[in-house]
Amino acid sequence: MKIVDVINQINKIGEETKDKTAPFQVLKTFKSGRSEAGVFMVEYGPANRVGILKVTKSNEGKVFQKAYELASTNNMQKYIAKLIASYKIQDKNKAILYVNLYDLAGDDIYNSETFLDKILNEDELKDSIISSITKFLFTWNKEHVKKFISPMEIIKNELSYRYMDDKYVQAFKSIGVDKNIKWISLDGTDVILPNPYYYFNNENVWGDLTVTCLTAYAHGDFQGDNIIITEDKPVIIDFCDLIEDCNVFHDLRYLESITLGDCLEIDKECDRELWSKVCESLSFGITDIDLPQGRGMSLIRQLMSKLRQNVKLIVSDSRNSLYDPSFHLAGTASGLINMRKYTSVNKKKAAFIYTAFNLKMFLKDEAVNMYDPKLDSCVVFNWKNQKLGNKIVVLEPCSTTVS
Ligand SMILES: Nc1ncnc2c1ncn2[C@@H]1O[C@H](COP(=O)(O)OP(=O)(O)OP(=O)(O)O)[C@@H](O)[C@H]1O
Ligand SMILES: [Mg+2]
Repeated sequence: MKIVDVINQINKIGEETKDKTAPFQVLKTFKSGRSEAGVFMVEYGPANRVGILKVTKSNEGKVFQKAYELASTNNMQKYIAKLIASYKIQDKNKAILYVNLYDLAGDDIYNSETFLDKILNEDELKDSIISSITKFLFTWNKEHVKKFISPMEIIKNELSYRYMDDKYVQAFKSIGVDKNIKWISLDGTDVILPNPYYYFNNENVWGDLTVTCLTAYAHGDFQGDNIIITEDKPVIIDFCDLIEDCNVFHDLRYLESITLGDCLEIDKECDRELWSKVCESLSFGITDIDLPQGRGMSLIRQLMSKLRQNVKLIVSDSRNSLYDPSFHLAGTASGLINMRKYTSVNKKKAAFIYTAFNLKMFLKDEAVNMYDPKLDSCVVFNWKNQKLGNKIVVLEPCSTTVS
């Protein structure tokens, strides 16, 4: 449906109901994201205010209200762009469209900057902004409920509609990883990683294992485009992917993994080598991380440790390792989501490596104790050397010669 028709319809509703938010006029069209949502900057109401009009097929306003109410009980609503008005209209084919007007976040109406844009350019902002972002992340959705859940269930919930969908399956196909192979050997190294496709394909892999996990609502798409940086605070938008009973670390690890993918290059062989080292160190520690030096690393080193600093708001005693497995699982889930989402095979491979390192640390945790690599179900994953395809490790029997 054309935006002029949408505007005509909501202006008509506004007139009929003497609604104070109408009339609307479009100022600018934003590029739309994954869904078919149309997003427009509009002028509205007799006071000529500026807001964001979002047209969607799903009832985003309802999901938003749930999130906003929860944030309000935790006094965190000031970090969320307010919903000002909601309309329900029909297109030509009588399909329902939801039109929601949000308060504009940002100071410059023609150039509202997002997290990465601003964070990359303004050094002095980094510390306070990231700290506020993670404070929001761990506070807006309280109380966090402690549960004992199977790893499969945690991952399925974090992946939501993406779990095992066609795009997910194709992602593994395109990087040459089969779900029946248990282990991956990184080319040119002695690193052996578990294959996440194997581990999260089959419930039986886990037996009756459960892990301790704090659960809460998650934003569900907590990435730079949905964090607007304003003069004094970050403002969070786009709650349409809200997840219920989710691993409390989900949004943090998702933001971390996306930021990593946006900041580091993987075109050259040395960049790819660095990538695996970074993935290894990020999965090794939680608040105490020791990242390698290298191209683009000074920014990453600052961002990553800052992002993780507020984990203490969830687990205040750093000696408490009860939630480490769920932290690693959130990294695993985020890696899988990125792997599915990235379009280039190289980026998919990079996300796969991030995923596998996190899964390795999960398996190695004392509470899980399932890291037991064997070469009888192992593939050499060609990451450093991009020209070769992956190759199954074939074990030759040792020949013993008796003289
Ligand atoms: N309240 C707002 N204030 C300032 N800018 C906004 C606001 N809402 C949206 N935008 C801008 O419009 C872009 C797209 O909006 P939004 O993130 O809500 O939808 P989307 O990502 O396109 O769709 P989807 O719902 O599929 O994720 C944002 O990345 C941001 O640049
Ligand atoms: Mg968005």
